[in-house]
Amino acid sequence: GRHFYPKQHRSELEAIVVEMQDPKSGVKGSEQKLNVTAIPHVITGKDIIAWIANKMKTTPEESNAFGTMLVAYGYIYPLQNHKKLVMCNDTSLYRFQTPYFWPTQKWVAEDSDYAIYLAKRNIRKKGKLEPYEQAHYNHLHEWLNHKWDFIVMQATEQYKAGKERKKPDRVVFDCQERAYWILNRPPVSVCVCVLLCVFIYTNMFYQQAIMRSKVKSSVSLGALVKYITTYKNHDPFLAPCLPSNPWQTDNDTYWTLNMRRVDVPTKMRVERWSFSLFELLTDLRGRDDFKIFLKKEFSGENLAFWEAAEELKWGTASSMSAKAETIFKTFLAPGAPRWINIDGRTMGLTVKGLEHPHRYVLEAAQTHVFLLMKKDTFFRYLKSPVYKDIQKKALNPEPHNFSPAQLEQNAQNRSPGIHPIILWQQEEEEKAKAAAASAPVDVKAMMSKIDRKK
Ligand SMILES: *[C@@H]1O[C@H](CO)[C@@H](O)[C@H](O)[C@H]1NC(C)=O
Ligand SMILES: *[C@@H]1O[C@H](CO)[C@@H](O)[C@H](O)[C@H]1NC(C)=O
Ligand SMILES: *[C@@H]1O[C@H](CO)[C@@H](O)[C@H](O)[C@H]1NC(C)=O
Repeated sequence: GRHFYPKQHRSELEAIVVEMQDPKSGVKGSEQKLNVTAIPHVITGKDIIAWIANKMKTTPEESNAFGTMLVAYGYIYPLQNHKKLVMCNDTSLYRFQTPYFWPTQKWVAEDSDYAIYLAKRNIRKKGKLEPYEQAHYNHLHEWLNHKWDFIVMQATEQYKAGKERKKPDRVVFDCQERAYWILNRPPVSVCVCVLLCVFIYTNMFYQQAIMRSKVKSSVSLGALVKYITTYKNHDPFLAPCLPSNPWQTDNDTYWTLNMRRVDVPTKMRVERWSFSLFELLTDLRGRDDFKIFLKKEFSGENLAFWEAAEELKWGTASSMSAKAETIFKTFLAPGAPRWINIDGRTMGLTVKGLEHPHRYVLEAAQTHVFLLMKKDTFFRYLKSPVYKDIQKKALNPEPHNFSPAQLEQNAQNRSPGIHPIILWQQEEEEKAKAAAASAPVDVKAMMSKIDRKK
């Protein structure tokens, strides 16, 4: 990834690039015909690599890698095979990128800049963009719809200004700009790399920091390292993600296997439930499994109360009083059907608070039952046959091995997937159905209905 090279070394890198362009001691460039236009200061891959090897006294492999790095960072751009960000040791043609487009420049590439660029290109190509450009263009059009007029206006201005330039200048500028956006458009693979590097750097940095310092902060740093160590295999960007990473392969099996309420979860997911009660409850599938265990133990009231408190906290304001009343009757009133066993002081405060209910009125009581579950029930769950059973049943998907051609195919078949709102609606319907099916029958109401019919 192009962000791998630490920032403080960028200036050294740039010094070398400047030296390369020295009229006397730099890489010799020449005018070359590209299609019909003569482009000035064109250099070949083998000249650059030879210059690096000579100047920096590096091995051929190192020179080649260094040259490729300069391309990957955007200091040098290819003129012919513009999508391949590598340097070839042959007569392939390259040019030095103008410092305005260097990665250390202050301006940050934004979506609107890219949209303006694509709109401009769309005008020039008379609507015939390359497939990847067209896809980005459509997406940005939708995304920035509110200011699309502005974007098209800017693009038109820039296009007109460009037409006034001389042909070779214009071609050169087009190449520079295209090279910049090939590097800086939001590409999936680069973003994976950045995350990975950030992770590796932070992890190494903290490990070293711990070894060096004997101060108290090492405790919290230790906690952080422990956290990273525990979770690193569970981050789809940091660990191989089975069967394959949908961001990299455009195959969404991973997401389908990890839907919120799948029947059979994956091994990774089940393992994650064991990290903490918080993890178990945050994952709806995990929570369902925990409920099965609690039902067997006849001890579901703590979790039921915890869920009711969540509903009160995140639900609509209009339903708050009704919910508070139900919660009081179900869990807190003396002799309530699912009475929870919390200490007297918390109980007193909660009951008093419920007279004027607000979102956080159950906070103390909720924390209390959470800690109770964490201390006791959670560990019993992890040792229970219920958990062992789901561990055994859980899936371990085989990795996908896609050929480059298949990856290309996947990218073309990319689908937007199911919208989260639709998923949520489906879940709500299922929940309502389940609730209706298990609701106690109100015999009196039914009898009176039957009576009326007679
Ligand atoms: C030269 O022509 C080829 C093919 O016709 C095209 O793909 C390429 O973009 C052109 N190069 C420039 C710099 O216009
Ligand atoms: C590049 O090619 C030249 C000859 O064409 C060769 O001498 C040199 O070792 C090659 N360099 C690399 C890095 O392969
Ligand atoms: C994902 O890849 C698998 C294995 O090649 C294939 O069976 C499945 O149909 C693919 N799914 C999609 C949505 O392309």
